[in-house]
Amino acid sequence: MPMIQGLDIFGQSITFNINKQKAYTTIFGGVSSIFIIAILIAFFQSNIVSFFQKTGVIVSTETEFNPNSDQINMNIQNYMVAFSIEQENFVNQPMFNITIEQRHYYRNHLGNLVKQVDYLQLEPCALEHFQFLLNQPDSDFESQFNQLDISKWLCPQKDFEFHMAGAYSSTEFHFIKVIVSDCDDTQSGYLNWKPTCATKSQKENHLKKEGQFKLQIFQVNSIVNPNSPSQYYQSYLDGEMYFTFVPQKLSRQANLFYRKYQFQNDNSLLPFQSIDEKELIVRKSEDYRDLTELGRDTDKNYAIIYFRRSQFSEFVYRRFIKIDELLSFLGGFLQIMITGFGIFITYYNKLSLQIELCNKLYNFPGQFIKESQLQNNKVQQHLEGSMINESKLVVNPEQGTSKATLIFDKEDFSFQKSILKLFEQSQRLTLSLKSLINHLSLRLFFNNEETELFQKAKNTVDQNLDIQEILYQLQEISRLKLLMLTKNQITLFNFIPKPNLTLVDEEQLPNRLQIEQKLSQQEKQNVNKDEIINELCNAWLEIKSDSNQNLCSQELNRRLNLVLGKEFQQIFFEYEKITKNQIQNQSEKPTQSLFLFQTLN
Ligand SMILES: *[C@@H]1O[C@H](CO)[C@@H](O)[C@H](O)[C@H]1NC(C)=O
Repeated sequence: MPMIQGLDIFGQSITFNINKQKAYTTIFGGVSSIFIIAILIAFFQSNIVSFFQKTGVIVSTETEFNPNSDQINMNIQNYMVAFSIEQENFVNQPMFNITIEQRHYYRNHLGNLVKQVDYLQLEPCALEHFQFLLNQPDSDFESQFNQLDISKWLCPQKDFEFHMAGAYSSTEFHFIKVIVSDCDDTQSGYLNWKPTCATKSQKENHLKKEGQFKLQIFQVNSIVNPNSPSQYYQSYLDGEMYFTFVPQKLSRQANLFYRKYQFQNDNSLLPFQSIDEKELIVRKSEDYRDLTELGRDTDKNYAIIYFRRSQFSEFVYRRFIKIDELLSFLGGFLQIMITGFGIFITYYNKLSLQIELCNKLYNFPGQFIKESQLQNNKVQQHLEGSMINESKLVVNPEQGTSKATLIFDKEDFSFQKSILKLFEQSQRLTLSLKSLINHLSLRLFFNNEETELFQKAKNTVDQNLDIQEILYQLQEISRLKLLMLTKNQITLFNFIPKPNLTLVDEEQLPNRLQIEQKLSQQEKQNVNKDEIINELCNAWLEIKSDSNQNLCSQELNRRLNLVLGKEFQQIFFEYEKITKNQIQNQSEKPTQSLFLFQTLN
């Protein structure tokens, strides 16, 4: 069992309270906290919103080089290409034929290079050929198709498949060869394209006019934006590719390379992976090699374009900011804010705490001696005047002269006021700007008596809060016990019952702290304060008038009086004097009464 108890991670640490709270708080601290919380909410809000909107993408990319690159397959789902010769009415009266070959080179077991050639069908392009572009979000390909008149171009059949892999030196080499050659309508190799070739004079006229022929290629391509949150690639019709040639005079050869982009998208916001994969075929602008030669008389192929697998592959891993990252980011930020701003606030709160404790525990005479004396004198004058003029003493006939009741008029409670004044004017230490600057500047500026006292008060409270000091003082109490009581007495002492705690309010002897608290809370309930003062006066008068005291307690009372201080004594003496006078001139008429003082003879 104790082992299980020891594993409890919610154990309560034990702390002291101040002002009935675990932590000492100030208005400045409260305002600053509201301010910081407001900043944090404003800041966090944008973060949290962007988190749920998935606008923050974290991308890592890797480019892989492989001389025997793996195979990519191009079909209507991810690619399309269209060819034409720049001329009037190419589809019906072509000046040249265009051929597409799927070539496969490999070495057989004897080490010989085997070349396999498959011819692909070509047909006039239709909109349906460009499924991939039509399926793109916000695609406006249809109008582009019509505008460019792509129906007058030639496309591979809709079920076409291009394979590309490796390089010439690889054991497996797949590529596409596009050839421009003479038109020949005597044989009909194409199922869906059966044109009549242009005449020789038409070709000669064109050459005279233009000086060259031009093979045009439109193909589907994509640009990749891995950092974009939603559309990380954009596909478009790349129409920037053309090759000029002049039969037997200028021949063209070009290599176009295609890369594979492998995307891994982690769409989960939670700290586990939920990956969807996407493969994309992209020809980057640098993936192009071109060769222009003088033509030969024997030339049959006037332009040859190779479509090949690039030796580079790109791997892109995309993910969104996850909840744990968001939380740790927010947490870290919060911590920094609290620490950053907090240094000053904590510092201020600590000073305030020290000052408040100081004010609770100590009196500060001598700091403003002149001022306080002036006030003292005023209080006394006021007291004397008011006592003599306005207070009345009534003897309760039932209790005879042994007990008298002093009754104050409603508008006059000057006696209580005088004592309250003593508390109100008791000097309090305040955190002045001077003291603060003096303290912050390590006592470089404003070194005067006020700041010196401030420092001393601070140090004293720190000293008082020292655990060693507290324990030492507790020890002293048990030592006192040892000094004053015998062993047997201590045994009895140790068996005094615990105090009861019931719903009935316990009787509490009045003390200075109560009044000071009442004053600092600015409470308007004077009654309560006055009750405490009444009890104080009664205690004093009763002690004074008790004639049955033994010597020991008389001595104790004398010392108590001394320690209580001159100011209190003065007020009490005045009070006693008036009381005696009033009793002598007994007045029977009871006045409207508010406060009672009970006095013994
Ligand atoms: C174009 O060339 C291919 C392949 O040699 C052939 O089958 C086809 O009939 C030719 N078409 C024309 C119009 O020249």
